[in-house]
Amino acid sequence: MTQLLNQETSSRSYSLKDWQKGYESQPHEHSYWIDEIEGEIPSQLEGTLFRNGPGLLDIHGTPIRHPFDGDGMICAFTFKNGRCYFRNRFVRTEEYIAEQKAGKMLYRGVFGTQKPGGWLANIFDLKMKNIANTNIIYWGGKLLALWEAAQPYRLDPDTLETIGLDNLDRILQPGDTFSAHPLIDPHSQLNNGRPSLVNFAIKPGISTNISVYELDEKGKLLTSHEHIVPGFAFIHDFAITPNYCIFLQNPVSYNPFPYLFGFKGAGECVNFYQDKPTNILVIPRKPPYKNMKVLQAEAGFIFHHANAFEDDNQIIVDSICYQSLSQINPDTSYKEIDFDKLAPGQLRRFSLNLEQEKVSTKMIESRSCEFPSINPEKVGRNYRYLFIGATHNDTSNAPLQALLKLDLHTGERQLHSFAPKGFAGEPIFIPKPNAQSEDDGWVLVLIYDSSYHRSDLVIFDGVNITNPLAKLHLKHHIPYGLHGSWTNGLPFEPPLDK
Ligand code: CO
Repeated sequence: MTQLLNQETSSRSYSLKDWQKGYESQPHEHSYWIDEIEGEIPSQLEGTLFRNGPGLLDIHGTPIRHPFDGDGMICAFTFKNGRCYFRNRFVRTEEYIAEQKAGKMLYRGVFGTQKPGGWLANIFDLKMKNIANTNIIYWGGKLLALWEAAQPYRLDPDTLETIGLDNLDRILQPGDTFSAHPLIDPHSQLNNGRPSLVNFAIKPGISTNISVYELDEKGKLLTSHEHIVPGFAFIHDFAITPNYCIFLQNPVSYNPFPYLFGFKGAGECVNFYQDKPTNILVIPRKPPYKNMKVLQAEAGFIFHHANAFEDDNQIIVDSICYQSLSQINPDTSYKEIDFDKLAPGQLRRFSLNLEQEKVSTKMIESRSCEFPSINPEKVGRNYRYLFIGATHNDTSNAPLQALLKLDLHTGERQLHSFAPKGFAGEPIFIPKPNAQSEDDGWVLVLIYDSSYHRSDLVIFDGVNITNPLAKLHLKHHIPYGLHGSWTNGLPFEPPLDK
């Protein structure tokens, strides 16, 4: 596969029809030992990979407008003694239960899903559905399905049954939100060098309120602080270093009227400004949390950051940047998207000089890529290796079909492509017990294989990803998902028999 790295080809690496099939709803819930396996599961790999993403792309036959509006479905892959047990369950949000019972669509979605009946059916209906579909973490003894516009849903880690909305032991007040991109600082200064979970919440408006939370291993609040920044902010992810939280405020504005009047979803009313700068907000993590710095960089849109770290007098932030925010034409389905016309996601490095309040940027990877993953010990620290979903070809835009490993010290790249029939999601890096190097671990990626209309969990050795160690074939497909996490701290005992 390595020769692909230098090869430019104008031919498509995929067919749109194949890609579209991965957006079929998966209404069924399963539990079974995976027994169709190519290669071998490493016997030392023990723990559970949790993933979240939209499981339903239609509500009783009415298609949703955008996959981000799909009901959250959790997948759990539990590894034990060289075997893997699979489970999937929908998050039974209040709205999921109501729609399944009613047999029809009852709610508008943030990303444009409208109830049938045109604008008359949607006018002034501001009740949006909490779909709990973006990420899932196990922290403080709780398994939490996250969606950035509401409180998390708590699930039972043994059965994946929904327990209910969770206010994190009263850290969150009614109406508070909790982002879907928490970060785990492996050695938090506020927790005496032990791990902490750092997360944020956004209340956007004419000015935007950003709250930062830091929780210890038991889920107890170590600190929280609030900041107000001018203007509307759409912030999905953030980055941390030992001393700072970093937010990139994309140059967007918000016009709520098409949403209020029922023509568009809330997420469709965000306008991107190509000629305005991106604000980079640097907030201290330690008391008194004052002196937030605002630096400016060129325009761009960012969903995800790979990492950040402090380097002498600079802060380095690596992010996936789009030259513009892609909007779906209101008259076409997301499934008909023209990838050639979309701005690619490219990895850029921002170097922030806090004293001079200057930012320099450089391109690290121009191949379209998304969903970065790093060694969890390196969160907020100078790091060397990045694992990320990528396109098969290195110039044209396309769905993600490959896993890319970047060595940020040498510039060396490794790639494994699943093209033409396979489509890739977010990789997760898991360090091996007694790892010898930063990349000494496993990389797990869930792939949609359109030739069999099923999904595979693929396991790579992080040192060399050109060929997988094992491919675990599921008996069915999982629609393209969003984010997930690994935990080895769970007592779940899968049944011994099939
Ligand atoms: Co995300």
